[in-house]
Amino acid sequence: MVKYISMILCVFLLSCSQQEEPQPIQEKESLPALHIQPEVYHLGDIKEGEAAIATFLIRNNNKQAIELVDIQASCGCTAAEPDSYLIEPNGFTQLKVAVDTTAKQKGIKKSIFITDSLGNKATAMLTFNVISNPHLKMGAVKGIFDGECASCHYKPLIGVIKPEKLYDVGCAMCHGEAATGAYAPSLRHRNIKMLKTIITQGVGKPQMPGFGLAHGGPLSTQQIHTLAHWLSNLPEKP
Ligand code: HEC
Ligand code: HEC
Repeated sequence: MVKYISMILCVFLLSCSQQEEPQPIQEKESLPALHIQPEVYHLGDIKEGEAAIATFLIRNNNKQAIELVDIQASCGCTAAEPDSYLIEPNGFTQLKVAVDTTAKQKGIKKSIFITDSLGNKATAMLTFNVISNPHLKMGAVKGIFDGECASCHYKPLIGVIKPEKLYDVGCAMCHGEAATGAYAPSLRHRNIKMLKTIITQGVGKPQMPGFGLAHGGPLSTQQIHTLAHWLSNLPEKP
């Protein structure tokens, strides 16, 4: 009986003394000889068709220089290219990983496997969701007011009165947030007559159709007038 109690006591003390003991500080020696950081890279949402790109760091924790002899990704559509195949002792290089996201779905996981000239191996993972991209199906002839395109390029403009709001929902996506130009030219400080004419009639291209009601667009003459007036008064530089 006494022996039994002392055994329990012993176990109890042991577990106590274990808890009291300070955790050993992680020494450099405990780092893996070859290391990819981060081990898991969450890229979040990527539009279908756009490249998912992540930059990892490959660390050489060996005391001698290494050469990366093998870099593999879990599928052929992933390109993984290091800045340098040679890494100095305690040095690092960047590894750029690009994934083609055409026709992929949610919850994608891609693994990267690397091997160095000393035989050390390391792996990392890239995760992301592919979300639908209306612009992927965009044909050269498709107008921005047609079919599903209208939900973003036509409908949000209907009945909007304030010119800055009109610009934000209807023009900024092509002409830039501050109207300084992006996919399409700058619209700041332009001639009001030119603005009114082109906004109403377009330029004969599917990307810049006539926004006037008479031309199949969403904007009334009054809306176009207000918008053109506001744009023409924007100083040349924001
Ligand atoms: C879900 C909303 C939405 C739909 C639907 C949509 N677009 Fe867009 N569009 C945008 C946004 C937002 C931008 C700004 C750039 C971006 O974020 O991709 C844009 C930009 C554009 C551009 C400028 C080029 C570029 O890539 O920046 C063109 C041209 C265009 N859209 C045409 C179309 C056509 C044609 C369709 C129908 C096939 C369409 N869009 C459907 C929201 C949409
Ligand atoms: C889907 C993209 C897209 C949207 C949305 C769009 N534009 Fe454009 N816009 C263009 C492109 C592209 C051009 C240039 C066409 C060319 O010159 O070939 C252009 C040209 C213009 C021009 C002529 C500029 C010049 O220097 O010749 C004006 C003015 C203009 N757009 C005003 C607007 C206004 C105002 C809106 C919002 C109501 C708007 N655009 C919405 C794509 C767009």
